[in-house]
Amino acid sequence: MIYLDSAATSFQKPETVGRAMETALREMSSPGRGGYPAAMRAAQTLLDCRTELAELFHVPEPEQVVFTMNATHGLNLAIKSLIPYGGRAVISGYEHNAVTRPLAALGADIRVAAAPLFEPDMTAAAFDKAITPDVDAVICTHVSNVFGAVQPIEQVAALCRERGVPLIVDASQSAGVLPLDMTALGAAFIAMPGHKGLYGPQGTGVLLCCGRAETAPLIEGGTGSVSIQQEMPDFLPDRLEAGTHNVPGIAGLLAGVRFVRERGLEQICLHERKLALRASEGLRSIPGVSVCARRDLFAQTGVLSFVPEGQDAELVGNALAEAGVAVRAGMHCAPLAHRTAGTLDSGTVRLSFSAFNTPEEVDRFLAVLPEALRGRTA
Ligand code: ALA
Repeated sequence: MIYLDSAATSFQKPETVGRAMETALREMSSPGRGGYPAAMRAAQTLLDCRTELAELFHVPEPEQVVFTMNATHGLNLAIKSLIPYGGRAVISGYEHNAVTRPLAALGADIRVAAAPLFEPDMTAAAFDKAITPDVDAVICTHVSNVFGAVQPIEQVAALCRERGVPLIVDASQSAGVLPLDMTALGAAFIAMPGHKGLYGPQGTGVLLCCGRAETAPLIEGGTGSVSIQQEMPDFLPDRLEAGTHNVPGIAGLLAGVRFVRERGLEQICLHERKLALRASEGLRSIPGVSVCARRDLFAQTGVLSFVPEGQDAELVGNALAEAGVAVRAGMHCAPLAHRTAGTLDSGTVRLSFSAFNTPEEVDRFLAVLPEALRGRTA
């Protein structure tokens, strides 16, 4: 199989990830639940992982790194910490359902700072207009999960700082790919999956917390700390980490983060961008395909969408699967992004690359696509 769906999860992991998980299963129990070696090894693994992540994302203290199940979990924690029922949020036009559904559940007044694809200046101008002091929080994805378009997060963060409005960054597609500096941005929260660009296993995610913003647990329970007290601890990470940790998952995530830091974010990103550019150039020469990309290496990451004109995107995705190429087609859990980009009616077929893809795989995909495009009308 040629796996081109790393925006969903990076299926190909460094070997060290699986090995670290096996070791954790054999040698680690639960952290903070005892002073015996198996518990201490687990506690050290969690601290090592928090420390590596704090260094990578310029978070002052490892305790500000909270483990979650996935980015959606982190986004829910952040959103529900900052936005009350009926509150007000400003979001980009490229947000995922992981942002829009929690806001809908809160009955929030949602202002969309919408701008055309690959127009960072227009995006920043839209945020400039939408962010008023009565806004409870701004939520912005760093990179669109559908189109790979890089959002002007530094400009959005500057507007938030200037107006005293907390910022939540969805780093689902940028963590491990683009540099992200929590301190420089002054973001209240940054949510990310552990299982995409950080190469950890599914079931891992991270919420970086600035430590100043109010935090509201989604669940209450044991933390191994201040057990006599019946309210959740008021300190991080315990406040947001009730229950037993996913120790094998976090051990795998630690190995994934180390892989990213050793290989280098810049090198991984350049590799993925070159593959996306190779794919978009190839797609332009295939009749019946409309490519949602700029001829600019830096406008996007290694995520790329195209519209198979007159064909059903999901059927094309299925035909590619039969030809041995794994892609994601349709709405990508992001109808708002498709509406903003004008692809809501058609959906798109999305390719997304990781450090493990090769130019030969892109060429193989391009070779099988014409047949996959034939007669795929709904
Ligand atoms: N949000 C992930 C994706 O885009 C799951 O596929």
